[in-house]
Amino acid sequence: MGRGVLVVFEGIDGSGKSTQRDMLGRWLAQAGVRWATLAQPSSSLAGSLLRKAIAAKRRLPPETELALFVRDRREQARSVIRPLLREGIVVVLDRHYLSSVAYQGALGLDPAAILGRCVRFSPVADVTFLFDIDPSEALRRIAKSRHADPFERRDYLVRVREMYLAWAPRVPDLQILDASEDQEMIATSIRRVVARLLEERHLMPPPGA
Ligand code: TYD
Repeated sequence: MGRGVLVVFEGIDGSGKSTQRDMLGRWLAQAGVRWATLAQPSSSLAGSLLRKAIAAKRRLPPETELALFVRDRREQARSVIRPLLREGIVVVLDRHYLSSVAYQGALGLDPAAILGRCVRFSPVADVTFLFDIDPSEALRRIAKSRHADPFERRDYLVRVREMYLAWAPRVPDLQILDASEDQEMIATSIRRVVARLLEERHLMPPPGA
């Protein structure tokens, strides 16, 4: 990996990842750090097919879905993430391969095989935050702002959460956050960890720079 920093956010839908991603982005911008936020599925061809299916409230056959997520991730790693990291940029990634292990593993596909397939080409994150939350609470949050998509069913998210917790120990530098806590408290914990990584890599501009 290059000189940048890769920060990954993982967790079930409605766990508050996107809010924290935006809060971290604002803090990095204020600190004068060069950063980018990216999401999976991405805007690659495979990613667009997945987004289209989600928007149409359709789920593809599990093997097809997995193949598209893996293809999208490989493409994004090669063409976007690695070049940004080589430039010394802080990349905040909303979902990485643990999403495939958890979401496609929860459909009955072999989680160990998914993990093995993805780690071969995936950039290693400097830190992964797993936003852990009760699926009922996550669905309550989603219901406040929009209709749930086909991934967002309680029984499914219960299995996804179990998969996340079971496979989290296989991801290096992963921290589990209690996503039911106050947003400011969560943001502070994340900043503390990211600030330390930035200092280690000399990516924190000096005050007044
Ligand atoms: P995402 O865009 O993160 O959803 P949202 O913005 O609504 O949180 O992801 C869309 C869905 O794709 C989400 O329900 C999780 C699912 N997903 C997988 O099933 N496997 C994967 O590898 C990834 C990256 C996402």
